[in-house]
This record gives sequence, structure tokens and C-alpha cells, in this order.
Amino acid sequence: MSELLKKEGQDQNYGSDPIAVRETDQYQAEYVHAFVQKWDSLIDWDARIKSEGSFFIDKLREKGVRQVLDVATGTGFHSVRLLEAGFEVVSADGSAEMLAKAFANARSRKHVLRTVQADWRWLNRDIHQKFDAIICLGNSFTHLFDENDRRKALAEFYAALRHDGILVLDQRNYDTLLDHGFSSQHTYYYCGNNVSVEPDHVDKGLARFKYHFPDDTEFFLNMFPLRKAYTTQLMHDVGFQHIETFGDFQETYRDAEPDFFIHIAEKAYQQPEENH
Ligand SMILES: C[S@@+](CC[C@H](N)C(=O)[O-])C[C@H]1O[C@@H](n2cnc3c(N)ncnc32)[C@H](O)[C@@H]1O
Repeated sequence: MSELLKKEGQDQNYGSDPIAVRETDQYQAEYVHAFVQKWDSLIDWDARIKSEGSFFIDKLREKGVRQVLDVATGTGFHSVRLLEAGFEVVSADGSAEMLAKAFANARSRKHVLRTVQADWRWLNRDIHQKFDAIICLGNSFTHLFDENDRRKALAEFYAALRHDGILVLDQRNYDTLLDHGFSSQHTYYYCGNNVSVEPDHVDKGLARFKYHFPDDTEFFLNMFPLRKAYTTQLMHDVGFQHIETFGDFQETYRDAEPDFFIHIAEKAYQQPEENH
């Protein structure tokens, strides 16, 4: 773990040169207790339900999914939604702080989450079951700074899926950010009132975002700006056969427009059309 970013409960500590902090392991220290407690005012569950609608539930049902592994549980939003929609869900995350919050959030809605603390790079060390679907949502994959870590994580996701399983992974539209600057309307995901999210620094190896809360507290996340084509290429490389990408929950979009891309990657081999 980065020596610069020590877990201190209330404060993030990026040291004297925050934009030099570019390590996969740092997510553990970024989600400090105070930030995790505020995360739900950032994403506002009710507003998020409205903006997402039933997109993920519909897609999972269309593919006949029953068992889902949420690998980036965070505070539990999707795990709880999918449980309430009737899916069997296992909730994993590398951050114990996040899982504790997710468990409490689910309890307050009368659910008991099946939680597993697991880092994606060694997922199958801790997860011994196969799933119909893995979800990695809320711009989480962006936490991996090293190309090897991205390949390893995707390969671990692939291995934890049944032979015809699907991976649903989303990402911020970093192409627009890298090429044209920031212009989010905050319509999707980060919907909390009076919470602002804006880039603090962007270069081709780092997107550092600032999260400002109504009580004037500020937190940061250092993330790797994934280009859309790069992410889908990595998915192909580890073996996913077919990848469909949606922009802000729509099938048709112009590349510069959406805030978020949602990739649905299928493991099952599909015969080319002419061989049918
Ligand atoms: C931006 S939060 C998103 C949480 C949630 N999916 C949501 O949409 O609200 C990213 C989550 O990914 C987790 N994470 C980041 N890198 C990870 C890794 N290498 N292994 C496991 N979990 C990781 C973090 O602990 C955090 O809970």
C-alpha cells in the first residue's frame, strides 16, 4: 500500500504530491470511514433508482440470470436493489469499511447481505461459487492503475462466471473528459443534493476527482481514466466473446454525450451469423 495514503478514519492523506499517488492498492485508504458515511448522500438511493430505472434488472432478466456476484458492493445500492428484485446476490468488496456500511444499509431495509471481503485481483481465492452474472458498477474498475491488475481482475471475473455468464461493468466517459474537458450534468449516479463532483486534475494516467459535501468537507478519489475502446479490448483479450456498450442506459448515443458507459460482456461463444 502507498506509504502516502494511510487509513486514518476521518482524513484522507495523499501526502505532499497528491497527483503522484497512482496505485491500485490505494482504494483501501481512500474510502476512509468519514467518506464512506457520506457516500450515500453523494449517490442518494432514491434519485439513483429514478435515474437508472429498471435498466440493470431488465438486462439481467433478459439473460436469464438468477445468481449475481456484486464485486464492487460499496454501500450496497445494487446488491439491495437486486435482492429486492428477487435475484440471489453475493456482495463482495475489497474494503471492509464499505462492506460494513452495506450490511447496515441492507439491515435497515430488512435484508441480510451475504458479504465477502475480496480484492478483485485474487477474487477466486475467496469466492468459490460460479455466478450467472457479475456486476462491477458505479465507476469502480477505474480504481485499478496497473494494466496487469486490470487484466488479472477481468480474468478473475471471467473465471467466477458460469460458461454462459455475463459481466456488467460501467465506467465514466473518460474519452470526453480527456479530449474535451468536464461537462457532467450529474444526472446519473451522483445525484445527491448540494454535493458537487468535479475533476481536480486530469492527465492520461490520472483522473483525480473532488467530492464536496454541504458541510464543506471534501474528499478525493484518484482514478485511472479508462478509454472506452481500451476497456472493451481488455474484455475481449481475457476471453469475453461479445460486448455491448450502452451510454447512460441507452442503446444509441453519440460517443461524446453520455456521462457513463455500461458494458455488458458475454462469456458464451456465439456462432457467426452465416453458420446458423
Ligand atoms: C466508487 S465505489 C462504487 C460502489 C458501488 N458499486 C456504487 O455504485 O455505489 C468503488 C468500490 O470498489 C471497491 N474496489 C476498488 N478497487 C477494488 C479492488 N481492487 N478489489 C475489490 N474492491 C475494490 C471499493 O472498495 C469501493 O467500494
